[in-house]
Amino acid sequence: MRIVSVVGTRPQLIKAAALQPVLRRSHAETFVDTGQHYDDAMAGDFFAELGLARPDHILGIGGGGHGDQTGRMLVALEPLLRDVAPDAVLVYGDTNSTLAGALAAAKLDIPVAHVEAGLRSFDRRMPEELNRVVSDRLSRWLFAPTPAAVANLAAEGIDSGVLEVGDLMLDLAARVSEEMRDPAVLEPIAERLGVALAPGRFLFATVHRAENRDPAAMARWSALLAAVAAPDRSVVLALHPGTRAALEAAEIVLPGGVVAVDPQGYRTSLALQLHAAAVLTDSGGVQRESTWLGVPCLVLRTTTEWVETVGGAGSSAVLVGLDSDAALRELATRAPLARTVEQAVERARSLHLTGSGAAERISTAMTSASLPSAALTAAAAGVRR
Ligand code: UD1
Ligand code: UDP
Repeated sequence: MRIVSVVGTRPQLIKAAALQPVLRRSHAETFVDTGQHYDDAMAGDFFAELGLARPDHILGIGGGGHGDQTGRMLVALEPLLRDVAPDAVLVYGDTNSTLAGALAAAKLDIPVAHVEAGLRSFDRRMPEELNRVVSDRLSRWLFAPTPAAVANLAAEGIDSGVLEVGDLMLDLAARVSEEMRDPAVLEPIAERLGVALAPGRFLFATVHRAENRDPAAMARWSALLAAVAAPDRSVVLALHPGTRAALEAAEIVLPGGVVAVDPQGYRTSLALQLHAAAVLTDSGGVQRESTWLGVPCLVLRTTTEWVETVGGAGSSAVLVGLDSDAALRELATRAPLARTVEQAVERARSLHLTGSGAAERISTAMTSASLPSAALTAAAAGVRR
C-alpha cells in the first residue's frame, strides 16, 4: 500500500521510530513532518538518535494558536496529499498534526489510519481530547492501544475498523531499555547536565500540558516540585520549551532543589526515569514508560486517558493533580526516602521489557486484503465510505 504518514511532535517521532522499519517492509511510505516541533532538542535530534528516515516533506509549521497552526497544516497538506494520492494516510496520537492529517485526508476521501485510537480523558477542555474524538470519527482503521480504548470507541458506536494492537511506545522501550540498565549510564548524563545523579537519589519531572502553562497552575506545580525535593533528592525537570517560555512570561522562578534542564534525548529520558526515585509528569508517554519500567509515577493531572496505569492496587502511577500534600503522601508510600536507592537498584537489575507487537499488527492490517469488515461490505456494495 502507498501510505503517507504524518508526524510533527516529539512523541510522534518516537512512535514512528517503532513503526517505520516494520511498515516499510510491506508498504511504500511517504514521510511527512509538519514541523509542529522544530527545536533540535524536541525534534531534529530524534531523527538521528532513533534512526528515522529523513522526511520526504517538511512543512515547517510550528507555533501559533491552535486554529492558526491546524489551519496552516491543512493548507499545506491538502495539495501534498492530492499530488501523492496515497492509498491511506496514517496519523499518530492526539496532536494538532494528528487532526490536520486526518482532516486533510478525509476531505480528499483518502482512508485514514489512526494509531492510538479510542483514548479518552473525557475532558473536552484538553485540546488533545478534541483532536482524538475528531480523528477517530474520520478514521477507517482505528488502532487502539488498550482494551479500554476499544471500549471507549464501542461506547461511541464505533466498532468498524477497530483493532486492538498494543502500544508502539512499549515496542520501542522494549527495544532500547536494556541499554539503560547499568546505572553507569547516569555518569555522562550527570556530567553533561551538571547535576549529581545517583540511582534512587533524584526525581525526574516533565511538565508541558496546556493547562499546566497557566500562571496559577505553574505557581502550584513549582510549589509541588519544591515540596517533594529534599537535600539528598533533587528534582531534575526536563523542560519543554513552551513551558520554559510560559514560566518566563509569568516571571516564575523555579525554586531551589528543582534543576531545570533542556529537553533530553529518548535514551536519556528512559535512563532518568529508570534510575529515579520516582517520576512526576503530565506526559502521557512518560506516564506509560515509567509504569513499564516499574517506577513510581505521580501524574500532575486530574484525569488520564491511560486508565490502566492508575487502576487498582499495585499500579505504580497515581493522579495527584497539582496537590502538594497528595504528592508528598503518595511519594512517602510509593518511594519512601529510606528505600529509594534499594528500589532503584532492584528495578534496574530486574528490568526486562517485552514489546507489544503493535508495529507488526498495524502493518499487517494495512493491506487491502485485510480491510476492516465494514469497509469490505461497503466496497462490495459499491459504496464509498
Ligand atoms: C504538543 C501537543 C501535545 C503533546 C506535546 C508533546 C497539541 C495541541 N499539543 O503540545 O498533545 O503532548 O506536543 O510534547 O498538538 N515550542 C518551541 N519549540 C518547539 C516546539 C514548541 O519553542 O520545538 C513552543 C512554542 O512556543 C509553541 C509552544 O511551545 O507555541 C507549544 O507548542 P505546540 O506544538 O503548539 O504544543 P505542545 O505544547 O508542544
Ligand atoms: N521524552 C524525551 N525527552 C524529554 C522528555 C520526554 O525524549 O526530555 C520522551 C519520553 O521518554 C516519551 C516521550 O518523550 O517517550 C513523551 O513525549 P511528550 O511528553 O512530549 O508528549 P506526550 O506523551 O505527553 O504526548
